Amino acid sequence: MKIQLLGAEDIPAFSKHLHQCLLENTDPALSVYAPFLKEEVRSVEVIEKKCRESWNRPLHEKGWERVWAMMDQGQMLGHVDLNSGRMTTELHRTYLGMAILNPNRGKGIGRKLLNHAVEWAKAQPSLAWLDLYVFQHNHAAIHLYREAGFQEVFRRDDAYRMRGEKIADLAMTLRLRS
Ligand SMILES: CC(C)(COP(=O)(O)OP(=O)(O)OC[C@H]1O[C@@H](n2cnc3c(N)ncnc32)[C@H](O)[C@@H]1OP(=O)(O)O)[C@@H](O)C(=O)NCCC(=O)NCCS
Repeated sequence: MKIQLLGAEDIPAFSKHLHQCLLENTDPALSVYAPFLKEEVRSVEVIEKKCRESWNRPLHEKGWERVWAMMDQGQMLGHVDLNSGRMTTELHRTYLGMAILNPNRGKGIGRKLLNHAVEWAKAQPSLAWLDLYVFQHNHAAIHLYREAGFQEVFRRDDAYRMRGEKIADLAMTLRLRS
């Protein structure tokens, strides 16, 4: 197994992988972790287009994204992504997302990917903060984020309503440099 920064040649495989992750989020047998309904899951083509537009963009331009995957014998087991915000004035901050495909969870892959992304972000002089949002019921993710040094900034109760439940959303942040 190894962590790989993805490039243009990986876009088709990654788009399928991310589509699969988003479908898992709509599987009633699994816990929900992102605020999307099944009919809102992005198609493989839409994901590919976004990757092509964002992966090459420099960090001083809004709309950049970098993605790392845990690879095993050519298969993507999970990924972590870092994105710019929407505004030029927030380019000192980056937003993190991650997902491990269900059969691969609980094997230490999430922790390794998270630590890798944090170390990369710390090495970028332009970045000062790493932000993320996580559902309050997502104990495994919150556990990892706390251990990596993230602090809770605020909680929005009843942020989303899914599967008949009111879901609280937690904002967490990590200071990369002062
Ligand atoms: C959350 C997620 C990224 C974690 O990745 P992972 O590879 O499964 O995690 P790891 O195996 O590296 O570590 C799991 C840790 O969480 C802990 N954990 C698992 N379930 C837990 C729970 N219910 N409460 C608290 N901690 C829990 C494990 O004990 C382990 O910590 P430890 O090593 O200190 O014992 C992964 O489960 C996932 O992709 N979930 C669905 C997508 C998601 O939630 N993404 C994050 C959205 S913000």
